[in-house]
Amino acid sequence: MTDDRALIKSLIADVQDFPKPGVTFKDITPLLASPQGFKAAVDQLVASAPGEIDVVVGMEARGFIFAAPVAVALGAGFVPVRKPGKLPRPVYEEAFALEYGTETLTMHRDAIKPGARVMVVDDVLATGGTIGATAKLLRKLDVNLVHVAVVMELSFLNGHAALDETGIDSYSAILTV
Ligand code: PRP
Ligand code: MG
Repeated sequence: MTDDRALIKSLIADVQDFPKPGVTFKDITPLLASPQGFKAAVDQLVASAPGEIDVVVGMEARGFIFAAPVAVALGAGFVPVRKPGKLPRPVYEEAFALEYGTETLTMHRDAIKPGARVMVVDDVLATGGTIGATAKLLRKLDVNLVHVAVVMELSFLNGHAALDETGIDSYSAILTV
């Protein structure tokens, strides 16, 4: 494990029985509060980018935190994927099942030019629902999804298989737990 990865791992806290009994929540707030830890996570995400990226897409809410600095570092734009009722102009929508409950994600129909090279960034890959729905939204926009990167993958939830189903072939996780 690199120094960066060891630092990141040490700053993610396990919280038992949140948000409901039986679930262990991975709390990234200590990582965000650490100047060295937050920089290490962003640096690792940036380093995973395969060549030129036009747009970094981040998903509300925790994806925004990492995707925005990655976009700046890569000289790319940032485009938000948001929960319903937040975007003011015409949107595409995708519903999916989350680890706990259901969710719908939305994106402005004209957010990204067709053919643009897009990287998706989120904090956690769990079941893959969030990234899978985002990939479907990006397909509607006819862009080129070249990479997906997350700070942490919860491997026991098999999100990788869900990503495979959506045809994502370039994917990086900083930590697999
Ligand atoms: C969390 C997390 C990921 C997603 C991963 O988001 O931030 O986006 O779950 O789970 P999945 O792979 O099963 O989709 P959530 O919508 O719970 O909360 P947030 O608004 O705080 O990001
Ligand atoms: Mg999220």
